Amino acid sequence: MRKIAIFASGEGSNAENIYQFFQKGNRVRVALIIYDREESGIARRVKEMTGVRAVYIAPEDWTSAPQRILDLLADEEIELIALAGFLRMVPQAITHAYAGRILNIHPSLLPAYGGKGMYGMNVHRAVIEAAEAKSGATVHYVSDELDGGDILMAQEVDVTPDDTPESLCAKVRLAEFELYPRAIAMALLRIPPRINVDPAASAATAEAESASQEPTPAPAQTETAIPRAADVNPPAIPGLTPPATPAEEWAQTLGVRYDAGKVKDALGANPDVEQEAPGVTIVEIDGTPRATSPAGAPRDSDATDREMPPTYLVWSIVVTLLCCIPAGIVAIIYSSQVSSKFYADDLAGARRASERAQIWIIVSFVTGVLFQSLYLPVALLFN
Ligand code: GAR
Repeated sequence: MRKIAIFASGEGSNAENIYQFFQKGNRVRVALIIYDREESGIARRVKEMTGVRAVYIAPEDWTSAPQRILDLLADEEIELIALAGFLRMVPQAITHAYAGRILNIHPSLLPAYGGKGMYGMNVHRAVIEAAEAKSGATVHYVSDELDGGDILMAQEVDVTPDDTPESLCAKVRLAEFELYPRAIAMALLRIPPRINVDPAASAATAEAESASQEPTPAPAQTETAIPRAADVNPPAIPGLTPPATPAEEWAQTLGVRYDAGKVKDALGANPDVEQEAPGVTIVEIDGTPRATSPAGAPRDSDATDREMPPTYLVWSIVVTLLCCIPAGIVAIIYSSQVSSKFYADDLAGARRASERAQIWIIVSFVTGVLFQSLYLPVALLFN
């Protein structure tokens, strides 16, 4: 189980969406949510999230006591931090201790409309005023520069002439709901499973850090109907989303598509999967955008589209039976000779028949088992 933390300041819709997304599986858990506004949407939403430790850290404590936050993160064995509408610079003690392990989501296509003053509705207003045709959401690694870390993934939305800042905000929020859980899953796959934060080194950085960081101003409250996480159903992606169940894990290992809907006993498995969703740009660590499929175009990833042949199971059973049956028949013939020879006073013959029957029973069993264990890999080789 890989544990993540969320830092949030505002409405908390992204935090709730991320929580719900990973609740469906059993590989990643939101273990900790830290927020810095007592009267906020996130403060209300955390009450509904079971199994999540929710901690309010007052604004002044973010700069004066980052060690307390580091201790919380260490206590919960947090591997990755996701900023979700977190409107404060993360203290350097934390960015250094969790270098490459902090993500942020921004409601524009960075680097456009990022930086000082660009948060929440300000971004959408600026995009509308500039009559942009496209906007979107970007997930990036957090560095000491505001909105300046390496970009991990981005998702575009169209800006239409009738869009208002409020309608654009709602569109972008839906894109964020799809994008952020995928980006978190991808970031987790890129980092080693455990983090060893040196508490002494972090404490030293915390002390050295300036206490004069300017807190980011609170966003203006808006009347916009913010979509709730439950309103959308973000798709998951294989290779990006850690498998939720052993069945999914096997399917990933074997390179076949896993359809949770078809599995009767699927225990809250993630939805069916796609390699890369249309309109999503995945950026490699070195900054080069990875090729993506245009919206609606067929994807070229043969491996992920490979379907389990429908006759697969039937053939497996038929051929296994064929392997067992000849040896089984010989075993039956020898077994039937045991009693007839015994009553004919041929004790030596009965013993021989019994031994041969046993040998053929073993042969039948072994060929069946051997075939069962070899059939799958051999079939996959030629599939
Ligand atoms: C989100 O749209 C997020 O991208 C934005 O604030 C909103 C938070 O909503 N973040 C920034 O502007 C950061 N610069 P939420 O609290 O409902 O998740």
